[in-house]
Amino acid sequence: DHFMLKEIFEQPETVAQTMQGRIKATPISPMKFGVPAVDKYLVPRVRLGGLVDYVSIIRRSRRIIFIACGTSYHAAMCSRQTVEELTQMPVGLELSGDVLDRRMPIFRDDTCVFVSQSGETADTMRAMEYAMESGALCVGITNTVGSAIARASHCGIHINAGAEIGVASTKAYTSQIVAITMMAIVLAEDQISKRTRIDEIVESMLDLPESLRMCLQLDESIKELAEGLKDESSLLVFGRGRNYATAVEAALKVKEVSYMHSEGINAGEMKHGPLALVDEFMPIIVIATMEDADMHNKMQGVIQQLMARSARLIILANDDDTEMTEIVQGKYPIVRVPRSDTAVQPILNIIPLQLLSYHLTLKRGHNVDQPRNLAKSVTVE
Ligand code: G6P
Repeated sequence: DHFMLKEIFEQPETVAQTMQGRIKATPISPMKFGVPAVDKYLVPRVRLGGLVDYVSIIRRSRRIIFIACGTSYHAAMCSRQTVEELTQMPVGLELSGDVLDRRMPIFRDDTCVFVSQSGETADTMRAMEYAMESGALCVGITNTVGSAIARASHCGIHINAGAEIGVASTKAYTSQIVAITMMAIVLAEDQISKRTRIDEIVESMLDLPESLRMCLQLDESIKELAEGLKDESSLLVFGRGRNYATAVEAALKVKEVSYMHSEGINAGEMKHGPLALVDEFMPIIVIATMEDADMHNKMQGVIQQLMARSARLIILANDDDTEMTEIVQGKYPIVRVPRSDTAVQPILNIIPLQLLSYHLTLKRGHNVDQPRNLAKSVTVE
């Protein structure tokens, strides 16, 4: 019925397109005698044609800085940890407009990665011109072949998600995360110590189309959830780690199309202010997938603290998380998503939240593809 819904539902195919011809299906570290075999020659698992000639320059740079606006900024925020984890390099994250406002110091041994669906966003383009003047290597990650950023950058990655028409970005977001994760892998492929980890991430990425299809089956139950939320004036979304990005991206989707106030909050900051907003009326979505044991424990703690304050919760958890069933005791709805690798899980987690923003908008009677005051690509500063 709408481009936004079409694009949400295209994601099993679009993430596959982003990976197509770039990821090798066979592991690079096959197990031999119970330990990963170390091949004499490193066989890369991922190949990104647009970066091959620049990989060594990026590895030698002093830091990597992601620069973007809106949803593209959130995609970089989400994948930044994977880049840090695999490269062990300092990785910065900046809003394009803020780079210019601050006249941020950028140096010739920096790598600046500009993430933009349209490749035409004026602030991101200006930030790239500014970084070029400083002599930094400029990498473009865009969805539009021939766009200003794709042409003016030194090298880059096309995310190949296909034209995105809905103003609210959905499929570009998940493909951007896939593209940045592939970039992180390419940068780490020279390190033998990272090969097992790379295999784990790649295996989960290859499962993505199937796992995304499972997430899309949540559509009907999310529609019901939207029915119960449609008259609210505010919605909070709590997440931490990579899922802090999921929280802010979900909140952006909700506010831009349904016009409901929504805020993504880092659950680690809950005690430093947001807790004052908690009562039995304010709906709060808590993203509590099993990132890793530590993160899962922390999110369980967050849920218990919120429950102690009679909060009105909606929990996003993994389908095999039985502990969550015990904690929640049937008091709140639990949205279940399939389990994946920590680096890939946020790609699944955003799906029910994209669907929620879509259904909320229809139920509130607004135009989901063309929200008021917004444009698909913002070509003015
Ligand atoms: C606009 C769009 C957003 C988008 C942002 C950045 O504000 O409405 O959906 O995330 O621009 O656009 P870009 O094309 O650079 O990713």
